[in-house]
Amino acid sequence: MGKVTISTLDKMKANGEKFVCITAYDATFARLVSEAGAETILVGDSLGMVLQGHDSTIPVTTDHMAYHTECVSRAAPHSLVIADMPFMSYTGPEQTMENATALMQAGAQMVKMEGGTWLSDSISMLVERGIPVCAHLGLTPQSVNQFGGFKVQGRTPKEAKSILADAVEIQDAGASLLVLECIPSTLATDISSKLDIPVIGIGAGAGTDAQVLVMHDMLGLSEHTARFVENFMEGQTTIQGALRAFVEAVKAGEYPREEHTYT
Ligand code: KIV
Repeated sequence: MGKVTISTLDKMKANGEKFVCITAYDATFARLVSEAGAETILVGDSLGMVLQGHDSTIPVTTDHMAYHTECVSRAAPHSLVIADMPFMSYTGPEQTMENATALMQAGAQMVKMEGGTWLSDSISMLVERGIPVCAHLGLTPQSVNQFGGFKVQGRTPKEAKSILADAVEIQDAGASLLVLECIPSTLATDISSKLDIPVIGIGAGAGTDAQVLVMHDMLGLSEHTARFVENFMEGQTTIQGALRAFVEAVKAGEYPREEHTYT
């Protein structure tokens, strides 16, 4: 198997083939995720919660992200590695460029940033200089204090319209991928069909081009999980089995189901 690239994911979208993303933060799990057949690995700033024990992603720094990106990228020869830019690491052009460079030099093939229209200039700046960008809309965890908790987004017509407009704008700015988190499935399906770039869903129903889950959640290790999470360890005796079960379920259209979906 060769290295997955943006072109691989574009072709999969064009062919209606679902792809898979799983978070990983170290070399061993990156290898297992890659061997399970996940096309992409996200070094998520969720590490602030699942590794560091914080109650949000806000304390995570670019140094933390660069360290874990290095660990993952050494062990994921086939999967495309996406690294999260953490809270307040992309507020202005120079800072954005410096921090995105640090993550790419740590081994990422793409950086992820939370936000819509206001990110357009930053996305264009990075893309023009050779750094691919994945945007993240809907429930963007770095804005948890603005939202007043980890709440489903896009439920009112006004919010839904604004998320769709943001999605179109970040695509026009040059983003290669989009993550949609915790939005109604009808909205996610509509956005996925309107955009040319692949859309990865989490708590966004079955109509997106791909699915992502935080590894600790899908292995049943997290204390609290949202309704969209399935414990893929159930019925399995090994972590490898659970990772493969998730990959196969997404590709077969068997995950997510109605009970994982927000309306
Ligand atoms: O940080 C992360 O793991 C994420 C996923 C929840 C998409 O952003």
